[in-house]
Amino acid sequence: MNLVLDEALSEESVSALYEVGTSCSLEDYLAQPDHSMDARIARAREQLGATTILLGHHYQRDEVIRFADYTGDSYKLSRITADSNAKYIVFCGVHFMAESADVLGKPDQQVILPDLNAGCSMADMAEISQVEACWRALENAGVAEDTIPLTYMNSTAAIKAFCGERGGLVCTSSNARAAFEWAFARKKRILFLPDQHLGRNTGYAMGISLNEMSVWDPWAVQLGGNYGGSTRTALEHSKILLWKGHCAVHQRFLPSHVDQLRAKYPGLRVIVHPECRWEVCQKADALGSTEGIIKFVEESPMGSTIAIGTEVHLVNRLAKEYASHGKKILSLDDAGCLCTTMYRISPQHLAWALENLVEGRVVNRIKVKPEVKKWAKVALDRMLEINP
Ligand code: 13P
Ligand code: SF4
Repeated sequence: MNLVLDEALSEESVSALYEVGTSCSLEDYLAQPDHSMDARIARAREQLGATTILLGHHYQRDEVIRFADYTGDSYKLSRITADSNAKYIVFCGVHFMAESADVLGKPDQQVILPDLNAGCSMADMAEISQVEACWRALENAGVAEDTIPLTYMNSTAAIKAFCGERGGLVCTSSNARAAFEWAFARKKRILFLPDQHLGRNTGYAMGISLNEMSVWDPWAVQLGGNYGGSTRTALEHSKILLWKGHCAVHQRFLPSHVDQLRAKYPGLRVIVHPECRWEVCQKADALGSTEGIIKFVEESPMGSTIAIGTEVHLVNRLAKEYASHGKKILSLDDAGCLCTTMYRISPQHLAWALENLVEGRVVNRIKVKPEVKKWAKVALDRMLEINP
């Protein structure tokens, strides 16, 4: 038996679990083909009824997202969590999303991530110890008191808590501008974590020039550079300090992709996720969160050809769905860009998590430590308040 146990399970419940011995081994599930999970997921879902909601981020595989009660971008899913009374929230997404759901959920709710390996490489690019070191360096340079820390949702709960405790907040790609305005109404500078591209694209769209932004390289600090690869003067004059993190999936899109497709399809409309590099965003017609991209496609006139710069599962789904509406949807990079960590949530992991839940066992629970939760909630609530 090889089961990831909820840390809260008592010894009695562990031995009871061994006696049940039916649907416990994840390996047994993983040995089965995807399609054989469909009926099992549907049955378990039905048995769980209103006790459970299943959330699906737009990058999830078709075989998984079709079972979701709600789909959305990270902002929409966090709102749904905050409003839900379900006892169990099964999050088909990545770790930072499930953590945020646990922070925003009610005390008796439990959040489950069907595969604990579903992380986010961008979120991993800012560790709390590095962020604390950065803040100390800003304090020593005399710039921290004019600076508000703001983190993208794609970060650990510890970093959200760090921001909350220092008067800052969280944003997603759908409300970054509102969060920046909120921050600039309070302080003259933002430390934006961990995605330099979302920070740069948002600041630039607000009229902040590129030379008013500095990049903070956490590795430069570890190598002895006091100012994160920058200078004290540059930090002092910056309106935005951009943490040197990125999404590897969205970095694959290049300005040349836009040029090539525009040459091939006159009248082409291009929308990209704001995690794409600035040079790509400048060539696009629009930027949008995953929900914003879907809306853009919906609202585009019949006969449109639209190139999308985001994760391939969403692009392929939209291409299928809108072909019958006379809209041609293309990936900006024809090789397609896959988020391998989102992909980790398989029908087998979902069936395993749900069937265990039917039998009263919570597997893969995501539980944020109370001391972290307190300030992370402050930062997330500030975000929800500026976006009623
Ligand atoms: P959205 O909030 O736009 O869904 O983005 C989440 C994400 O991880 C994009 O890479
Ligand atoms: Fe993280 Fe990029 Fe995957 Fe989004 S697409 S979850 S930012 S790795």
